[in-house]
Amino acid sequence: MTWKNLDQRNLNGKRVLTRVDINVPMNGNDVGDATRIERIVPTIQKIIAANGIPIMISHFGRPGAVKDDKYSLKHLIPCLTEHLGQNIVFTDVDEIETIIKQSKSLKIGQIMLLENIRFRTGETNNDPVLAKKLAEIGDVYCNDAFSTAHRAHASTVGIANLLPNCVGCLMEAELLNLEEILSKPKGPVIAIVGGSKVSTKIDLLMNLIKKVDTLVITGGMANTFLRAQGHNIGKSIFEQNLLETADKIRKLAQKESCQLILPSDVIVARSLKRDVPWELFEATKCPENQMILDIGPKTVNNIKQAINRSQTLIWNGPMGAFEVYPFNKATDDVATFVSQLTQKGKLISVAGGGDTISALKSTRSESKFSYISTAGGAFLEWIEGKKLPAIEALIN
Ligand code: 3PG
Repeated sequence: MTWKNLDQRNLNGKRVLTRVDINVPMNGNDVGDATRIERIVPTIQKIIAANGIPIMISHFGRPGAVKDDKYSLKHLIPCLTEHLGQNIVFTDVDEIETIIKQSKSLKIGQIMLLENIRFRTGETNNDPVLAKKLAEIGDVYCNDAFSTAHRAHASTVGIANLLPNCVGCLMEAELLNLEEILSKPKGPVIAIVGGSKVSTKIDLLMNLIKKVDTLVITGGMANTFLRAQGHNIGKSIFEQNLLETADKIRKLAQKESCQLILPSDVIVARSLKRDVPWELFEATKCPENQMILDIGPKTVNNIKQAINRSQTLIWNGPMGAFEVYPFNKATDDVATFVSQLTQKGKLISVAGGGDTISALKSTRSESKFSYISTAGGAFLEWIEGKKLPAIEALIN
């Protein structure tokens, strides 16, 4: 794969239209997790150091081409200002002609942020008219949003073809790390897939079974597999319409000689609340009036042994309802174990997708993995082996 990076473009005096992904989790109007903001800082600093003018463009949520204060990027300005160490010029005007004028009056050293690009009609269907107008706001296009690379939108694909383009520091780090770790991984390879729904991860599971030696299915999605085997799962969440699919996945693993690890013991409680009384049961025997909220110590031990036999680990999704104490225990234990092996040089570990960063952050293990991707859906599609349209636009 080849692409141009920021060092390979002349940025001197140029307006660098930079697609970032600051679609961050919020607590009310405050940023809940600033990881995606922290990770774009090197790109913005690099553009400024090269005498360029960064003009950031991002989406935030899914407002459906309607202006909605809840999805305004203005709520992120205090956090951006803190991390970038300077004031941001924010523009929320509708007319792109006005934004073009504003962009031309920016001075070197200033940073501009455009209002949520998904307020505009034409963004999500990659309208060429919108892309052409947006392209006039910059002289160079930089894409630093790997986490939105699976979307063929005007700001991710359309503009890339209209301006000299390049990748930002975060995008380049994501591509290099994921390519190295996932294309020719050092075997044996183990994958841990958690989270609540099988439905969002069918392609991922099917693809992983053919590539990895051990596949751990955990989190709420494991309940569907337990139910498909006829086990009692009480009040636990599961997907009734995917019981057959779960069975197919289990059979495919057998055929491909991929060891499948499902929960053998589980932590159950009557409700998902902090500090509720909980009990440990065999995974086959969850009582009728209880729900599975985490995996038990025997399963954790099985997973640790399988990790010990592996050289590379891919992790997507938490093992239990990690947001609510004490159902974070299995995720924390395994994350700490993975960090320790990684730090000793015995394991290459890569994690990404959805809740994974927050789950690992709570154990402070995220900096001890070999690589943590900022991406959710794009990370999944990448490991599913799909081509990501925004990357294709940059390498062609
Ligand atoms: C993400 O959070 O995965 C990205 O920001 C993409 O968001 P989207 O799924 O709304 O396109």
